[in-house]
Amino acid sequence: MSASSCSSCCQPSSIGKKVVMALTGLVLAGFVLGHMSGNLLMFKGAPAINEYAKWLHDHAGLLWAARVVLILSVIAHIWVGIQLTLENRAARAGGPADEATRRATVASRTMPYSGVVILAFVVFHLLHYTFRTVALDGAVYGDDVYKMVVAGFSCRSVSIFYIISMLLLCLHLSHGVSSVFQTLGLRNERWRSRLDFVALAYGWIIALGFISIPLAVLTGCLK
Ligand code: HEM
Repeated sequence: MSASSCSSCCQPSSIGKKVVMALTGLVLAGFVLGHMSGNLLMFKGAPAINEYAKWLHDHAGLLWAARVVLILSVIAHIWVGIQLTLENRAARAGGPADEATRRATVASRTMPYSGVVILAFVVFHLLHYTFRTVALDGAVYGDDVYKMVVAGFSCRSVSIFYIISMLLLCLHLSHGVSSVFQTLGLRNERWRSRLDFVALAYGWIIALGFISIPLAVLTGCLK
C-alpha cells in the first residue's frame, strides 16, 4: 500500500482507516524515537542506562499508561493494516496495474511484509529483554540492563537479526511517515519531495541509532 498507489483509498471507509493508520503509526513512530534516544545512553556507560531503566520502573503508573497506549496502537495498526491491504488487493485483482501501482516504491509494496518481520522482531525482543525468557547465556542480570544488552548482542546471530530488523524498520517507517503526511493532506506537489526526504531521513535516523548499539558491541566498542 503506497501513499501514491492506494487504489481504493478514496472510499469514505478507507479514509477513516487511513486516519487510524496515521494516528497509530504516529504513536509507534514516536515510541521508537523515544526508545532509541533512551538506548543511546548505553554510550554514556552502565550507570546512565541503568539509572534510566530504574527511573522508568520506579514510575510504574506512567510506564503502564504508555504500555496500554502502545498495545492498543499496535492492535489497531495491525488490524486496520490487514483490512486496507486486503481491500487494495481486491481492488487491483484482475485488472491491469494502474499508473500509481506501477510507480509504487519497494517500501510501499513491501509494507505488509516488513510489518510482519517487525512484529516477529518485537515478540523476540520482548522475550529477550523484557520478560528475559530467552536467556541465551543462562545468566541473570537483575537491574543491570547495560550488562544484559552487551551480553545479548555478543551473540553474533542475535545482533544480525536485530540489524536486519532495524533496516526493515527503516523501510517501513520511511513509507509510513510519508503516508501520514499524505493522509494529513500535506503531501501536495509542492511539498512532496521535501516531505518524502523527511520521512526517509526519519527512518534512517531511527534505524542507525538502534543499529549503532549491536554494532558497537560486535566491534568491541561497548563491553
Ligand atoms: C538496539 C536496539 C534495541 C535495544 C538495545 C533495546 C533495548 C531494550 C531493553 C533493554 C528493554 C527492556 C527495558 C527494561 O525492561 O528495563 C526494551 C524494551 C522494549 N523494547 Fe527495545 N530495544 C531495541 C530496539 C527496539 C525496537 C526497534 C523496538 C520496536 C520496534 C523496541 C520495542 C521495545 C518494547 C515495546 C519494549 C517493552 C517496553 C516496556 O517495558 O513496556 N525495541 N528494549
